[in-house]
Amino acid sequence: MTYETLLVETRGAVTLVTLNRPQALNALNSCVLDDLIAAFAAFEVDASQRCAILTGSGDKAFAAGADIKEMADKPAADFYLEDFFSKWTSDFVKKVRKPWIAAVNGFALGGGCELAMMADFIIASDKAKFGQPEIKLGVAPGMGGSQRLTRAVGKAKAMEMCLTGRMMDAEEAERSGLVARVVQHENLVDEAVKTATVIAAMPPMAAMVNKDMVNAAYETTLDQGLIYERRLFQILAATEDKAEGMAAFIEKREGVWKGR
Ligand code: CAA
Repeated sequence: MTYETLLVETRGAVTLVTLNRPQALNALNSCVLDDLIAAFAAFEVDASQRCAILTGSGDKAFAAGADIKEMADKPAADFYLEDFFSKWTSDFVKKVRKPWIAAVNGFALGGGCELAMMADFIIASDKAKFGQPEIKLGVAPGMGGSQRLTRAVGKAKAMEMCLTGRMMDAEEAERSGLVARVVQHENLVDEAVKTATVIAAMPPMAAMVNKDMVNAAYETTLDQGLIYERRLFQILAATEDKAEGMAAFIEKREGVWKGR
């Protein structure tokens, strides 16, 4: 399958998706967003693929935001009537049950920062820069930035970033809990593929369940989250991969996963 605005390749069980509009700093127009939904839907149903990576083409940007040129003349009523960005802020994240990583190679601004935050975690190049500069355009985040950034870095930093539009560099982003790890720019994709390969080698259903449990921590009280975690643990206990994983440990060998 080919896409107008993405490059998609596989490295073993890892799908590498690259945003490919470098001339516009990978700005997210409707075509990119639709291509991403299609590419991740294909990843989701391909049983040979176990973890995905999303990165940006070119040396400069992961994505410099929603496409300002596409939005500039759009009437407010259209944003409202189309429920603009709704496919993104809720559906997309929930439909991708397999793990995926954002490998942020440069500017991740506005919708670009919001897209990176939709990933299960972010690995950043030491040249990455994160920000929600929408206020400078007379608007505000529209793809989850005010919610996910606040949950990731806390109210003080999120509020400061949204109100001033300032960017956070990779080192500050790691210190603030926005990114899991910072790596040298030149090694970003290799490091992300290494990490994704580790995840891809895990029992696939257990990977989905682990993702589901951690995400539930955003949505529930501690009591409800603990019950949810226990129930999912109990379901995993009935899988063939649980029997295989524990037998493999005891027999001092590698597990062979069935994904069920
Ligand atoms: N939309 C459309 N085009 C964009 C873009 C965007 N978000 N960001 C950059 N581009 C285009 C530029 O217009 C330029 O195109 P031309 O060569 O045709 O003029 C090209 O990409 C290169 O950009 P610059 O010349 O501006 O590059 P720079 O190195 O001087 O600056 C930058 C880099 C600081 C990232 C700057 O491009 C910038 O500030 N971009 C906009 C960032 C922004 O405001 N993002 C938020 C968008 S709104 C949003 O995302 C809403 C939401 O919550 C969903």
